[in-house]
Amino acid sequence: MPRVKAENISYEYKGKRVLFDISFDIKGPAFVSVLGANGSGKSTLMRLIDGFIMPSSGNLWVNGLSVKEPEAIPEIRHHIGFIFQDPDSQFVSPVLEEDVAFGAENLGLEDAEIEKRVHDALKVTGLEAFRTRSPFSLSGGEKERAAISGVIAYGPDILILDEPFSMLDDDGRKEMLKLVRSIASDKLVFYVTHRAEDTLFSDSVMIIDSSRIVAMGSARDVLYSDVAEKAIRLPLAVRMAKRLRLESKPVTEDELEEALCI
Ligand SMILES: Nc1ncnc2c1ncn2[C@@H]1O[C@H](COP(=O)(O)OP(=O)(O)OP(=O)(O)O)[C@@H](O)[C@H]1O
Ligand SMILES: [Mg+2]
Repeated sequence: MPRVKAENISYEYKGKRVLFDISFDIKGPAFVSVLGANGSGKSTLMRLIDGFIMPSSGNLWVNGLSVKEPEAIPEIRHHIGFIFQDPDSQFVSPVLEEDVAFGAENLGLEDAEIEKRVHDALKVTGLEAFRTRSPFSLSGGEKERAAISGVIAYGPDILILDEPFSMLDDDGRKEMLKLVRSIASDKLVFYVTHRAEDTLFSDSVMIIDSSRIVAMGSARDVLYSDVAEKAIRLPLAVRMAKRLRLESKPVTEDELEEALCI
């Protein structure tokens, strides 16, 4: 069972407080959204989990391994797959199947195992027919799928997606969120976003505001909490339901229509 535990971590950069007194203990598999405004510290928290930067105080463990132990960092990285905003920056080969195999090859696995992992990963992301294409020639959504394929083939049990779908349109993002939802059936996924609507696909939501975690719980509870209104732009359905003082807590526009009996 993958697990990430943070105990009172703070992070300062050149005397500026970026994160303060962050604690959580999250077990997977689960789909966890990390929601917050620009500059609230979301990416910094993800880099702390990956051991890319060290907390100024407090401690953080990934599957029981402390990020403060330098010798634990390579193993922590084996547990974690990281996907950034720009998939192009992640591709290393002009042939998709070679690109997807890259991480698994670096683990020194046998050829048959690598082939199986590439096959399975492309099946999960629905890119089997694109095996010999260049990842650079794919559409935005396909590129995101390609980047996810490579990370899955590497075999991490924790996946960090830092605002990966911001280039996609609403339908494209929804498709990708459904894919992430299915991947989260056997992994712990952190999905960073500043869009409240995206969090409806997740099991739990963490809101970061002014360097702290100000709310954590189900999307519905968190989006209707008092702190959410200050920290993020609420979905239209939530804003309207609050103004109309609806008793039910719709979060999607469909749910709002139902609540209003339209
Ligand atoms: N290495 C660094 N150098 C300078 N400033 C940093 C560094 N790391 C973090 N910061 C600052 O910390 C704050 C939080 O940054 P972070 O990138 O974590 O925010 P974010 O929530 O991911 O924002 P965005 O939604 O814009 O991606 C920002 O004010 C940022 O400028
Ligand atoms: Mg960021």
